[in-house]
Amino acid sequence: MPYSQAYGDHFYCRTDGRLECGHVFLDGNGLPSRWAAGGDFVIGELGFGTGLNFCETWRQWRSARTATGRLHFVSFERFPLPKAAIGRALSHWPEIDREREALFEHWPEAPEGDGAIELELDAQTRLTVVCGPALERLRASGLAFDAFYLDGFAPSRNPDMWSAELIGEVFGHTRPGGTFATYAAAGFVRRNLIAAGFAVERRPGFAGKREMLCGRRP
Ligand SMILES: C[S@@+](CC[C@H](N)C(=O)[O-])C[C@H]1O[C@@H](n2cnc3c(N)ncnc32)[C@H](O)[C@@H]1O
Repeated sequence: MPYSQAYGDHFYCRTDGRLECGHVFLDGNGLPSRWAAGGDFVIGELGFGTGLNFCETWRQWRSARTATGRLHFVSFERFPLPKAAIGRALSHWPEIDREREALFEHWPEAPEGDGAIELELDAQTRLTVVCGPALERLRASGLAFDAFYLDGFAPSRNPDMWSAELIGEVFGHTRPGGTFATYAAAGFVRRNLIAAGFAVERRPGFAGKREMLCGRRP
């Protein structure tokens, strides 16, 4: 169970991080049904961590995508994990063996804390991990996103990943009609999302957690 000493938090919920990803990030962003339209779809993630969210998304994308669909998954990560740590964490889930093996094969041994990791994983799936502080890197990004996964540790442990400034950048880089989802339900996170301009909805959280948040850029 990967745990960050620096932030004093787990990388995902202890019940089942893969199922949590499906409930919070995919369902919360209306996926996979939005992929039925085909065309390009860009997901932004704050916090790549072990790549669990990416692998589960790629697995679901593979079975739901249309012949014309192309997914670009762009994740912002300050401290990219070494290859061995990613392989170890993801081997817990046989359901994503295929995705783990492909990610592991291409992932650098010990990624630099700067720059970007660019992987063309199949003809319809591209992964970019932008290394460095999310606020600076997202601010400098020219991309527009269809959906955001906000996954930067608990807001109480890592408030920088939930600041008004960063959430403002998330809003600014979301296409009109685009969405976000997060397991976070803290009052200041919800207020920052609303102040940025999102229409915010509360939903039941995963595994007995009372609430999570998701929403749309009008
Ligand atoms: C909860 S974990 C993400 C879990 C991940 N999505 C997964 O599937 O394993 C949070 C991640 O955010 C990263 N992080 C924390 N603060 C950051 C910052 N200011 N900028 C970019 N990444 C940050 C941490 O290094 C950590 O990998």
